[in-house]
Amino acid sequence: MPQPARLVVLVSGSGSNLQALLDAAADPAYGARVVAGGGARAGIAGLDRAAAAGVPTFVDPVRAYPTREEWDAALTGHVAEHKPDLVISAGFLKLVGAAFLGAFGDRYINTHNSLLPAFPGMHGPRDALTYGVRVTGATLFFVDAGVDTGPIIAQVAVPVLPDDTEETLTERIKEAERRQLVESVGRLVREGWTITGRKVSIP
Ligand code: GRF
Repeated sequence: MPQPARLVVLVSGSGSNLQALLDAAADPAYGARVVAGGGARAGIAGLDRAAAAGVPTFVDPVRAYPTREEWDAALTGHVAEHKPDLVISAGFLKLVGAAFLGAFGDRYINTHNSLLPAFPGMHGPRDALTYGVRVTGATLFFVDAGVDTGPIIAQVAVPVLPDDTEETLTERIKEAERRQLVESVGRLVREGWTITGRKVSIP
């Protein structure tokens, strides 16, 4: 069997998506392993999950650097140290800059909790509820220089139910989102991919 692909996973929150990847990667047939977890803040639950799984972690707070560019360069360097085949933003809420995209732009993916291009930004489930859509979901995409604008890898639809609150909808989306992330990352690393304009192909 070939060497498993190397995943670096960036997180800002509870890390349930990271946990799903750690769990999937326990099976050698998955084809990937998480080689590092990173964040922009110490004390993130997601990084505790990585550490508990024996995965090295790093933290690059934006405020630890004089400029955003220097932060971006430092983050790029820390990710690069782990020689990733794929870098995954699993709820990493920081926008990376030119250095990072220059290094990883064709292999940096993000999962977002809406059906893009609807409801980009920080509050996907809340914005979907406020708008009153009956279907929302999750989108996995390659990150470009915009906010949630990159070429789409996969999408999954999730119903909005009449009694939903932001919390219940967020949780329902996260369940579908985790399944999609695990399945798509596995396919990407096992089968490879091409990006042509906005079209992502997994052979
Ligand atoms: C995901 O739903 C992602 O779309 C959003 O934040 C959530 C991350 O959750 N931006 P977790 O930290 O993986 O539990």
